[in-house]
Amino acid sequence: MASHTPEHAAGNTSSKMDKLTALCRRRGFIFQSSEIYGGINGFWDYGPLGVELKRNLKDAWWQDIVRCAPPGPDGQPIDMVGLDCTIIMNRKVWEASGHASGFNDPMVDDRESKQRFRADQLFGLYAGPHTGNSAADRAAVLAAVAGGIAPIISIIASTGGEAAEVLERQGKKLFKERNVPLQISEIAAEFVLLKERGEPRLGVLAAVPIDVLRGRPLEIPSPFTQKTGVLTEPRQFNLMFQTHTGAVQDDSSMAYLRPETAQGIFANFRNVTDTSRVKIPFGIAQIGKAFRNEVTPRNFTFRSREFEQMEIEFFIHPEQAAEWYRFWRDVRFKWWQSIGLTSANLQLREHDRDELAHYAREGAGTSDIEYRFPFTAPGFGELEGVAHRTDFDLRQHAQFSGLGDKLKYFDQQRNERYFPHVIEPSAGADRGTLAILCEAYQDDPGRPSGVVMKFHPRMAPIKAAIFPLVDKDGMPEIAGNIYNDLRKTWNVEMDVKQNIGKRYARMDEAGTPYCFTVDTQTLSDQTLTVRHRDTLAQERINVAEIRNFLSKKLEP
Ligand code: GAP
Repeated sequence: MASHTPEHAAGNTSSKMDKLTALCRRRGFIFQSSEIYGGINGFWDYGPLGVELKRNLKDAWWQDIVRCAPPGPDGQPIDMVGLDCTIIMNRKVWEASGHASGFNDPMVDDRESKQRFRADQLFGLYAGPHTGNSAADRAAVLAAVAGGIAPIISIIASTGGEAAEVLERQGKKLFKERNVPLQISEIAAEFVLLKERGEPRLGVLAAVPIDVLRGRPLEIPSPFTQKTGVLTEPRQFNLMFQTHTGAVQDDSSMAYLRPETAQGIFANFRNVTDTSRVKIPFGIAQIGKAFRNEVTPRNFTFRSREFEQMEIEFFIHPEQAAEWYRFWRDVRFKWWQSIGLTSANLQLREHDRDELAHYAREGAGTSDIEYRFPFTAPGFGELEGVAHRTDFDLRQHAQFSGLGDKLKYFDQQRNERYFPHVIEPSAGADRGTLAILCEAYQDDPGRPSGVVMKFHPRMAPIKAAIFPLVDKDGMPEIAGNIYNDLRKTWNVEMDVKQNIGKRYARMDEAGTPYCFTVDTQTLSDQTLTVRHRDTLAQERINVAEIRNFLSKKLEP
């Protein structure tokens, strides 16, 4: 399993995450791809429960975005159509989009262990004296870093918060050996967070992105072995996977696997406007696989090399950009809440202007919908980006395809021909699934399983379970009839094995919101018990009422 990869060895997996990944494996939510051969880093398979969960997420998105998009800011229905484009496209698409030349991550190699990782995810642990004045401590450590001191150890982490946590654990051990109490500071590129730890405080540790030390890689310990003298300079590494089409494998047959679904939409912009009745403002939506040869895939499915996106390109007149940007940002944030991400772990974060992608800098804004995953806490990780992409992509495709102004949209109402601007809400189906899993997971020592997955009913992989209390007296037949009826509409499961407590435990782990049990009383009065997953409350309803009951409970 990936839990043996170096980044996990570095200790950044929280215990909640350990328990969740174990449950995902044990109950068939998520498996490592090609597990029987030792796996392949950055690739994951969805098991019988996981595939239902992820499908529920994608179906809800398609239903709520494409088939029944919310009314626009003026209360009018929104035009939205779907698309399903190929993963391999003409190479020129990626030259036009900028990915062929610019979709790079800075990468560093450990020459001895042959490990490769992102330079911007390399953090160092620095120690300095503690004076009692935190600002002075920080300044002293930063000055020392800028002056060229090498870190004591280095690690890989996605965020400054994650780095500080790992370093705290490792630093404590280190300082314990030297008998020095410590205080941890996290000093990331643009912000400083000081965490007070214990008294008296004699040492200061800082987690600093090592990118700061570019130019002197030999002095930096390798995050894998902590050996110095083995790291290379950072080099730019293109994240697109390459393949070849046709029998001859030469440069002319080289093709890329798409790193985002968006470009298929832009490349088909004219096809869609020519063949459907959409009028600006309108959207084109797509769900599909995307591939990125991530240098350090990590944190379970969060950063994978193969993943699925749910993207909308919403085409508007340039003057409407600000209004539609705010609209989609708010609609998308509420949507994630509506499918169960209701806790404070979900947040909307507006980007600072200097964080923006090149195409979005002049735009109305960019924001991320973020989730506080156990492995990013106290920080957050991106679930979805909402960006004003201006008219960058359509203009690029107009130029690279030679279509020029023919790719412009003719707005009959304004009697104007122009390149529409685009608001892009771009979400990850795998990150969404992972956030739903994290949100649902709850330890509960009071239950036989010790854990319950409190999925929103719309997301729950199994909507209801039907149990005959015992495997005799006609109970399995009654349960079987109910099961055969309900499965025409919902994913339900019938379970006759083991005692009832164990069956409830299995369903708690699967996150099944309702369990129906056929018992002796059913034989005489056609009622059965319903067990509510979240409250453990039980009530009796009539067998004839089950459909109605579930319809009401499972309504979006
Ligand atoms: N078309 C815009 C675009 O692709 P992005 O922020 O690079 O933007 C959008 O990706 C979403 O795709 C992210 O918010 C994330 O949910 C998902 N995503 C990106 N890279 C991923 C990866 N390596 N593994 C899993 N999901 C990823």
